[in-house]
Amino acid sequence: MKSVLFTLGLLFVSPGGCIDNNHGDNSKDIEFDFDPLDRGPYFDVAASHNVTALVGKSALLRCRVRNLGDRTVSWVRHRDIHLLTVGTDTYTSDQRFVASHFPRTEDWTLEVKYPQLRDSGTYECQVSTTPPIGHSMHLSVVEPVTTVIGEPEMYINRGSTMNLTCVVEFSPEPPPAIFWTHNEKEINYDSPRGGVSVITEKGEITTSYLLVQRAQPADSGSYTCHPSNANDKTVTVHILNGEHPAAMQHGGQLRLGNPPFVILLSSFLTFFNYRH
Ligand SMILES: *[C@@H]1O[C@H](CO)[C@@H](O)[C@H](O)[C@H]1NC(C)=O
Ligand SMILES: *[C@@H]1O[C@H](CO)[C@@H](O)[C@H](O)[C@H]1NC(C)=O
Repeated sequence: MKSVLFTLGLLFVSPGGCIDNNHGDNSKDIEFDFDPLDRGPYFDVAASHNVTALVGKSALLRCRVRNLGDRTVSWVRHRDIHLLTVGTDTYTSDQRFVASHFPRTEDWTLEVKYPQLRDSGTYECQVSTTPPIGHSMHLSVVEPVTTVIGEPEMYINRGSTMNLTCVVEFSPEPPPAIFWTHNEKEINYDSPRGGVSVITEKGEITTSYLLVQRAQPADSGSYTCHPSNANDKTVTVHILNGEHPAAMQHGGQLRLGNPPFVILLSSFLTFFNYRH
């Protein structure tokens, strides 16, 4: 860590074009450094915390520095010890990194535009004291994943309850809303059909259950789960007419890859038994 700070201390000198330690105005510096009531610059660690951001949605890392005086705040990426910004100037060719400071605040923010998974890692906010002081924070860029249990195809017996389960994982916060569509039309829970309901449990993993009682052929088709902050997921539901031994064993809900084969096989066996 010491060596990192040292390297960065050197970096400080060149971009600003000024070496801010010693000489000339010595008396003032000394007076400043020895004032027992003056701590010099320090970080408000509670306000400068780790951040979790969604892929593609701007991430803001905040560094709150008290007693900054005339020092400069820079941002450094640890992965490659790359100096990203000095003051409000961007020092990398990657223009997605933008530092801002709002007058009358002590906040120096680093915005990462269009963050990608590979932007995850440690970033350090540095103050140009001699030697420089730094505060590190972690950026986690996450991509929520939506799954519908049983996708892409589900087989449900006519008359049984269709229970579609949509799961949203790796979301920094629960999706504010999840809605369902049937054949691309928003589901109306008050329709004359009746028996259609949805239960959503929000949490680190958010689950939405769409329940359709007494499934009918008209209920077949594509069902899509739309979380407001994650990708959509579609399942195609087939309502099976008539009895099916395998379906009975699975409580009326089948999740098979290839039922036509199963149906064909069972018809074949019936035929075979009949002949012998
Ligand atoms: C920030 O994230 C890093 C890396 O995941 C972790 O080691 C550290 O404890 C976190 N700090 C806080 C205050 O949560
Ligand atoms: C629906 O299925 C899930 C599992 O996918 C289960 O936990 C839940 O209890 C079921 N709901 C009903 C009403 O059957």
